[in-house]
Amino acid sequence: IKSEYVCTYIKQCVNTEMVFKATNIVCTGNAKYIENVTCPVKARNWNNAVAYMDCDLVLPLQNTTIHFKLFKKDYANQYKPFLIDVRFNLCDIISKRNYLVYGTIVWKTMQRFTNVNHSCPLIGHLYARNMYLDDIYLPSFPLGFYKILFNVSDVNRDQIEDHGSIALFFEAMEERRSKTKKGQISN
Ligand SMILES: *[C@@H]1O[C@H](CO)[C@@H](O)[C@H](O)[C@H]1NC(C)=O
Ligand SMILES: *[C@@H]1O[C@H](CO)[C@@H](O)[C@H](O)[C@H]1NC(C)=O
Ligand SMILES: *[C@@H]1O[C@H](CO)[C@@H](O)[C@H](O)[C@H]1NC(C)=O
Repeated sequence: IKSEYVCTYIKQCVNTEMVFKATNIVCTGNAKYIENVTCPVKARNWNNAVAYMDCDLVLPLQNTTIHFKLFKKDYANQYKPFLIDVRFNLCDIISKRNYLVYGTIVWKTMQRFTNVNHSCPLIGHLYARNMYLDDIYLPSFPLGFYKILFNVSDVNRDQIEDHGSIALFFEAMEERRSKTKKGQISN
């Protein structure tokens, strides 16, 4: 890895020569709980693409667990587990009954890009707009291709029900700069 990579929520990636570019997003929903799921990715420029997501909840999310797992593509083109493999209760994070670090990152990301702004139960139409990865704090990564998988389930009286999943594919790559004013980064 060539450059120090430090991102904050507040828009700045400091001293970065690396960017995360979303390449694809695949979402699935268990029709019993979630309908009308769409999640396109739209390219904005060489360095950047933004993700959108829409879905309608058939039943409210009461006690939602998110399994957050990162994969890195290896030389054989297979995605292998990499660094992050955590589960957390999203409702506990939202209502500040829990402060797990990756849960808090996911919740801050949701507050920024989605219409989820309140505690559980979550009902109705959920959406994400203009979501991009550069502003999200992630550990320092080697260049390459990655997949982030979010499996969403609800636990009620020990019954685990799968609701759906979001798989976000992205490339950690060197930033492609265009030649503009000295010292200014264009993207
Ligand atoms: C899914 O979309 C259809 C067509 O717009 C709508 O009639 C239906 O109510 C939606 N489902 C939910 C759970 O809102
Ligand atoms: C959440 O967002 C909706 C729509 O923007 C707004 O009407 C509502 O007051 C917000 N709720 C909270 C708790 O911020
Ligand atoms: C809520 O989910 C957690 C797992 O995240 C589980 O331990 C707990 O029993 C669930 N609560 C209820 C009321 O089902």
